[in-house]
Amino acid sequence: MAITTPATTPIRTAKRVDRFTYAIRNIVAEAKKVEAAGKKVRYLNIGDPNQFGFVTPPHLIEAVAKAMRDGHNGYTASPGIPEAREAVAADFTSRGVETSPDRVLITSGTSEGIELALTGIVDEGEEVLVPAPTYPLYTAVLAKIGATPVYYRTDHTNAWQPDLDHIRKAITPKTRALVVIDPNNPTGAIYSDETRLALIAIAEAHGLVILADEVYGDLAYDGPVPPMALLAPDAAIISYSSLSKAYLAPGWRAGWMAVGRSPRLDPALAAIKKLADGRLCSPGPMQYAVTAALTGDRSHQDTFRRELRLRADLTTERLNKIPGMSCVAPKGAFYAMPKMTLPPGKTDKDYVLGLLKATGILVVYGSGFGTDAGDGFFRVVFLASPQELGEIFDEMAAYRLE
Ligand SMILES: Cc1ncc(COP(=O)(O)O)c(C=O)c1O
Repeated sequence: MAITTPATTPIRTAKRVDRFTYAIRNIVAEAKKVEAAGKKVRYLNIGDPNQFGFVTPPHLIEAVAKAMRDGHNGYTASPGIPEAREAVAADFTSRGVETSPDRVLITSGTSEGIELALTGIVDEGEEVLVPAPTYPLYTAVLAKIGATPVYYRTDHTNAWQPDLDHIRKAITPKTRALVVIDPNNPTGAIYSDETRLALIAIAEAHGLVILADEVYGDLAYDGPVPPMALLAPDAAIISYSSLSKAYLAPGWRAGWMAVGRSPRLDPALAAIKKLADGRLCSPGPMQYAVTAALTGDRSHQDTFRRELRLRADLTTERLNKIPGMSCVAPKGAFYAMPKMTLPPGKTDKDYVLGLLKATGILVVYGSGFGTDAGDGFFRVVFLASPQELGEIFDEMAAYRLE
């Protein structure tokens, strides 16, 4: 007999969701309210080049279409198709980091690599060093798995370089990994070799694994930055990247991770592969595009880097002219992290929500990336056309938080 009286108690949700925050998308709910009230919103919250007119290289689209036409629509092996794993290994090797295809996994974007690595290595109650400000998926995943993110300072008065002493002091017996995002989201910083070597030395001295997020590696304006593992091929480094940014295909969810050659990482590699079995595989046809991307023409990157530099320069120049605002010049990627002097008692979120309501411009408050709410940082995505950016910065300049 069917039950006709519906229960009224809402289904309870897991406490881990309360700890899981991802400000970049969470803030869209606020923008929708502003839109519903009839105001045009300019979405400068998500780093998606395709939404701003940058297009996926045609040979990648053809590779996916061909894979589908050729019937490659079934599951693949969990770590990915051999051709893609070989292409990733050959790409690392060509950059000076000799890599074997069996230490490569093809993942659903860098995001899945982050989730697999953290889940495979870090236990509940353990700690991971994460930059402040950080790309917030790290803190979100750590919260989900019951581990603790411990922020280390990166310093805007020193071109957003990591504060090495702060890292050393933050290490405890529970620390397991050090996250390095270089080029960085949200700051646009690039780290010097000296800094990278110091980070590796700290990690090695404390038996930490470095999670090297290299998703913007090819988008430094002066040309690709080498993988971190080049400086220390035997250090415990796991690198990851994807087609999302430098190959302009973020919606495909196609990425990769490479586990460093040190035998100390063999158990981590086995753990990550075991977890990867459980999710079957990353999207199959897109894996063919990984091969096409890493073995084919990359001239679109020259154009993209030029366009990014132009926008970075414009953004830095215009934001630094706004009274009370200062902005460190980004050196790669498509983000800037300016700082606004706030009236007493106000937070970065007050500024961002005030700006959204007054102008329809949606940026993300710095505290969503781990800076102090009172410091007044916020992140701008500067992928819009220079003309549109000009209009946006005019409106920003005219807005004042009271
Ligand atoms: C630093 C960083 N890592 C990872 C990601 C996720 O990228 P993917 O699309 O490859 O999952 C992003 C996306 O913005 C990012 O900025």
